[in-house]
Amino acid sequence: MTGQVLLTMRGISKYFPGVRALENVDFTLRAGEVHALMGENGAGKSTLIKVLTGVYPKDGGEILMDGKSISPSSPLEAQKCNISTVYQEVNLCPNLTVAENIFIGREPRKAGRIDWKTINRRAAELLKQLNLEIDVTKTLDNYSVAVQQMIAIARAVDVDAKVLILDEPTSSLDENETSRLFDVVRGLKKQGLGVVFVSHFLDQIYELCDRVTVLRNGELVGAYEIEKLPRVELISKMIGKELGDIQSMGKNDAAERGEVLIEAKGLTAFGRIKDFDLTVHKGEVIGFAGLLGSGRTETAELLFGVAKPEKGTLKLGGSEIRFATPLDAMHHKIAFCPEDRKVQGIIGDLTVRENIIIGLQAKNGMWSHIPMKEQERIAEEYIKLLQIKVSSPEQLIKNLSGGNQQKAIIARWLVTEPNLLILDEPTRGIDIGTKTEIQKMVIRLAREKQMAIIFISSEIDEMTRTCTRLAVLRDRKKVTELSGDEIYPDRVMAAIAGGV
Ligand SMILES: Nc1ncnc2c1ncn2[C@@H]1O[C@H](COP(=O)(O)OP(=O)(O)OP(=O)(O)O)[C@@H](O)[C@H]1O
Ligand SMILES: [Mg+2]
Repeated sequence: MTGQVLLTMRGISKYFPGVRALENVDFTLRAGEVHALMGENGAGKSTLIKVLTGVYPKDGGEILMDGKSISPSSPLEAQKCNISTVYQEVNLCPNLTVAENIFIGREPRKAGRIDWKTINRRAAELLKQLNLEIDVTKTLDNYSVAVQQMIAIARAVDVDAKVLILDEPTSSLDENETSRLFDVVRGLKKQGLGVVFVSHFLDQIYELCDRVTVLRNGELVGAYEIEKLPRVELISKMIGKELGDIQSMGKNDAAERGEVLIEAKGLTAFGRIKDFDLTVHKGEVIGFAGLLGSGRTETAELLFGVAKPEKGTLKLGGSEIRFATPLDAMHHKIAFCPEDRKVQGIIGDLTVRENIIIGLQAKNGMWSHIPMKEQERIAEEYIKLLQIKVSSPEQLIKNLSGGNQQKAIIARWLVTEPNLLILDEPTRGIDIGTKTEIQKMVIRLAREKQMAIIFISSEIDEMTRTCTRLAVLRDRKKVTELSGDEIYPDRVMAAIAGGV
């Protein structure tokens, strides 16, 4: 049961130079409801949340909390109004301990001194409520992005919140962690909290949420009860047109594969992967399927020279090779687009053009000059190819929406025109329309440019649509390969789980 209205946002507008991020948007949140905020990349979801939490001043409209007008001018002030947030990009400090991250800025004190014992104990207790039993005295960078996300949530729920905002909290969580988080959210809902939930995962929206507010191009499309809104209608409200194209995308019916490009035999690196064999042909899209922690990313890193194998061989075009560094791998026309775009990806204070060109610049050598005209041409070509929403290529990348930053990083690797492109969760956080575009692009690159692509994704549907072959990993070993007719969701799921 949902209760009375907790929070009202009325007629909210927000403009950035050249961008109308929000125009006259209304939003209401009731006590005890989980309210989804949906829309394509750049629709204005994060901006609405940042206006609510005082990160950005609003250019119009008003915010009422419990019937009283508020206008927080910082997240801390918002917190004092009982509004707590976990942002899309985890913003914790990697070199502080887990416990410090949870209590930073509000450390319990004893006789004027920070009371570390209490901090550590309370942090451990809090995380235990989220079913996370880890050493809270270790620094944050010891833990995966998924765990860091849970820590951010622990921090957010520990303050006296009436409204909890989760901006794409699950995009780096696996199924287990997600269902744990959902249990936590349901518990908070029972206590009467209002939860705002931003996500691109339809299944999750239907599983968890009571209502949904849809934004498109900075405008309100409407607010709906989830139960009464069929999925197809929700999607067409988001993209502003009928479905057709998205549903009609078929499978990647394996085109001719070319000659052998790269061959791994018995690759082993302690704690990463054991005895990994794989032969990659030109023109293939090979999926690495498996749960979080199964060794997908770690294996990709071995192929790209991020880590070095202790045993085993790697052959490229028939001759044995060892990559000393990722740059070395790049010179051999291998590209790797990493999973964690915040840490390994964007350089916030550079423009979109510069962020895209960096890939080429690194490959060509820092001193080789790429004429400005050429840079502009390339940037524009890829902005168009990936439909990156920018006001201009000269916009700072940190001002793009999360999904559009992700696309720019993919562009960075595409410009190097690799023979082997490794994409680690390329569609995470990307809206459903563009997701399909990226999948199509992958298939096109393989077919038309004979590029070999290694595609890592946690979404089985997209793997089965996009890949011509799957390497299934479990517990840091390749357990089987699937190809052709074997690639369908139930079979893949069973292979991942260890049923067959
Ligand atoms: N600080 C900023 N400066 C300039 N433009 C910005 C800034 N922040 C956001 N924008 C622009 O406002 C628009 C809305 O962005 P927002 O981040 O709210 O999208 P979103 O709905 O959260 O998308 P995503 O699903 O990709 O996270 C985008 O066009 C974005 O480029
Ligand atoms: Mg966003």
